Amino acid sequence: MGPPRVPFVPTPATIVHEMLSLADVGPDDTLYDLGCGDGRIPILAAIERWVRRAYCVEDNPVLAMIARSLAEASGVGDRVMVIEKSMFDVELTDATVVTLFLITSANEALRPKLEEELRKGARVVSNVFEVPGWIPRKVLPYYVEGHVSRIYLYVIGEHLRSS
Ligand SMILES: C[S@@+](CC[C@H](N)C(=O)[O-])C[C@H]1O[C@@H](n2cnc3c(N)ncnc32)[C@H](O)[C@@H]1O
Repeated sequence: MGPPRVPFVPTPATIVHEMLSLADVGPDDTLYDLGCGDGRIPILAAIERWVRRAYCVEDNPVLAMIARSLAEASGVGDRVMVIEKSMFDVELTDATVVTLFLITSANEALRPKLEEELRKGARVVSNVFEVPGWIPRKVLPYYVEGHVSRIYLYVIGEHLRSS
């Protein structure tokens, strides 16, 4: 049995900006959003951060179709690629940034894959949920509807020790 199914809950645009800024995403990056929903993170990364490539990985066909049309409509269809597959079946070896808004158990299930496939220096940014066992380089708290939430930034190579 795999991790519990994560429903589609979009990250608010203001928090997407914070995630991209925390990871210092830029034109040299290849970004993967694992479980990309309507594609807003890859699309904003392409529009505002000029990433080389942004992959939107989504196994729900309706959401994948929406992400594809939003990327086209936003004029970044040439740099935002929608991969309609389970995130567990997509190779991440060329990723320099991975974004996550899943749940802790899904992050935990992904952890061995991230450790095996990501190169040293790759950044992993997770909204709300930690990657269990990893040490973040930065944690950015933010206020949302009556409570404090957090964005976690991890860097492969230093994710198992504090620096
Ligand atoms: C909480 S939403 C986050 C959407 C988007 N990343 C954002 O931050 O706005 C999680 C998404 O992960 C997708 N998802 C869940 N399990 C998945 C899997 N194994 N492979 C690909 N996508 C998955 C869901 O369909 C959903 O769209």
